[in-house]
Amino acid sequence: MKNALENIKNEAIEALSKSEDLKALEDLKVKYLGKKGELTAILKQMGKLSAEERPIIGQLANEVRSKIEAKLAESQEALKKKVLEKQLKAEKLDVTVPGQTFEIGKKHPLTIVMDEIKEIFLGMGFDVVSGPEVELDYYNFEALNLPPDHPARDTQDTFYITQNTLLRTQTSPVQIRTMEERKPPIRIISPGRVYRSDALDATHSPVFHQIEGLVVDRNITMSDLKGTLEMFIKSLYGEDSQIRFRPHHFPFTEPSAEIDVMCFNCHGEGCKLCKGEGWIEILGAGMVHPKVLTNCGIDPEEYSGFAFGLGLERIVMRRFSIDDIRMFFENDMRFLNQF
Ligand code: DAH
Repeated sequence: MKNALENIKNEAIEALSKSEDLKALEDLKVKYLGKKGELTAILKQMGKLSAEERPIIGQLANEVRSKIEAKLAESQEALKKKVLEKQLKAEKLDVTVPGQTFEIGKKHPLTIVMDEIKEIFLGMGFDVVSGPEVELDYYNFEALNLPPDHPARDTQDTFYITQNTLLRTQTSPVQIRTMEERKPPIRIISPGRVYRSDALDATHSPVFHQIEGLVVDRNITMSDLKGTLEMFIKSLYGEDSQIRFRPHHFPFTEPSAEIDVMCFNCHGEGCKLCKGEGWIEILGAGMVHPKVLTNCGIDPEEYSGFAFGLGLERIVMRRFSIDDIRMFFENDMRFLNQF
């Protein structure tokens, strides 16, 4: 029995010193010290021993147990330290190594000005809404008082998808969608892309951006339109800028007007920038046509409204002295990095 105990001790200590990971140590603990382990198996045979032998073997067994336990603790400690060291080495961080630089994006010039315009109208209590770019003929034309044979349809160079669906030629259909969904008072702007099958050149692009505006409530008059647009233009171009209304025609407004801003280059004198006009046309507007209100289930006897639409590209081109509209859509980083 003495020999058996010695053997267990030596075997265990050797195995523990060779062990390479914590899991293996745990297995050895069970193997030698566990309830079904080798040491326990020997102790169970103590009953067979004589009264003199029992305390001697008992003491020896205790010694063996504590030796194995001590070795186990020592090996566990050493292994944990090794694991920690390995981990620290792997995760070592040299804070003095120069960082990797990567390019971060920038706002597109169209987005810069679009955001400014949104801010101005949000400040006046408008909501910003959006509508689909693939639109039904009904919303893009018919509900806006442009029936199928209306001559003004020809001026819009529409991309048709099917007989009834098209790429919207203007943001005005969002007026209809908004009035179908909301009851007055309505105060919205709707910025977005529009499409026309124009040939691409320095001032024309088949895709461009408009910002639509719509206000419907009781007692809305042309002077509300004037005040709103004047406030908008002064916020965008400065307190000293001036606008003028020129009579015009749009099927969905009556009366209609085109609005010009005084050329900020020559202040009305006429120069190259304004092509000698002294004024630059920037938007179309008018009082919402009673038929359009009726088409959306709003009683024109009770409510009135104004609407306007402005083209974004032209405003941005003037702002940043960009002389070719194609620059906006070419994604040339040398151009985009300048803003
Ligand atoms: N939709 C017109 C266009 O694309 C612009 C416009 C004019 C919008 C008058 C309006 C408006 O809301 O009242 O040419």
